[in-house]
Amino acid sequence: MTTTATTALTHIANLVTNDPSLGDGTPLGLIRDAAVVIDGDRVVWTGESSKAPATDNAVDAGGRAVVPGFVDSHSHLVFAGDRTAEFNARMSGRPYSAGGIRTTVAATRAASDDELSANVARYLDEALRQGTTTFETKSGYGLTVEDEARALRIAARHTDEVTFLGAHIVSPDYTDDPAGYVDLVTGPMLDACAPHARWIDVFCERGAFDEDQARTILTAGLAKGLHPRVHANQLGHGPGVRLAVELDAASADHCTHLDDADLDALGQGSTVATLLPGAEFSTRAAWPDARRLLGAGATVALSTDCNPGSSFTSSMPFCVALAVRDMGMTPDEAVWSATAGGAAALRRTDIGRITPGARADLVLLDAPSHVHLAYRPGVPLIRAVWRAGERVV
Ligand code: NIG
Ligand code: FE
Repeated sequence: MTTTATTALTHIANLVTNDPSLGDGTPLGLIRDAAVVIDGDRVVWTGESSKAPATDNAVDAGGRAVVPGFVDSHSHLVFAGDRTAEFNARMSGRPYSAGGIRTTVAATRAASDDELSANVARYLDEALRQGTTTFETKSGYGLTVEDEARALRIAARHTDEVTFLGAHIVSPDYTDDPAGYVDLVTGPMLDACAPHARWIDVFCERGAFDEDQARTILTAGLAKGLHPRVHANQLGHGPGVRLAVELDAASADHCTHLDDADLDALGQGSTVATLLPGAEFSTRAAWPDARRLLGAGATVALSTDCNPGSSFTSSMPFCVALAVRDMGMTPDEAVWSATAGGAAALRRTDIGRITPGARADLVLLDAPSHVHLAYRPGVPLIRAVWRAGERVV
């Protein structure tokens, strides 16, 4: 029989559990003067410090706040090169267009496996130091059978949440034959990629893939055991959100341009609306209206969309601050969406909360309350991080 040592984290001024049956009864399930007990990779107890059971080890949180590790459910980390010049031009007034993706496709195809893997590791380490303990990442900068499959193989070395995005844009090799590219994606590319991925995604947008193409690609993925998620309604209004809900996609991501029918669909279905404020920030685009989504009853997640074009940030605290300042979320809502919301977008119940049985993913803030994540934007507030019970920062 193996026994593991138990560790108590004590004197937590404010503990975000994301269990409304605990603490103050809000969705955050906030417990004041709290403790958490970890055994191996799991949380085994949460409650008031004074009632904590005896443990082998103790760590004094010193009156600081603890939140669940952030769940970044949308990133594009398998890439090479950067697009500094494109960003610079945009900040001088040039609009964002999906065409810049081609620049990254060329650089990614030219890179070695080791370069790509080192890049993923680098941005993951950056994210971990900012409190991200789970992340999803995608292919989408290869756009050939071999380059997409290799991106997914590399991603799968770093995370279980891997998404096949062969339908990011029509490959530059198929500019004159988009239907041929859809055949490639749903045929040989899907065959080569499905074993390495959990999810399938399509950029459903003018200039990328239309509704029929997106439906064809997502249903082909479903038939191979990949569950859909959709880049939807980012640059303009379109069919992406309604298609995502129709196919019971885990999430509709971006959701920047929504009409009332989209809101109703998201409010009624189980598809999570994932907002990516780094993209609006870095493209100077209009902000999605989180209040309208929450008012319609949608489940909202926040993620970074970390990629070299539209959102080159790996920082979930930065996204929380933007969501509060510019998308109308309260600090409580934004912290919930960056943790439990991300877990919902990945259809996971073992992460995004600090309750008995959950994976022990904890972030100790250098602040007395989770509200400081928005109140003190840009300040490095991540003091310590545990992932699966192990102290990693
Ligand atoms: O989520 N929208 C499509 N894909 C990315 C952008 C990728 C890029 O510009 O390289 C996004 O914003
Ligand atoms: Fe994206």
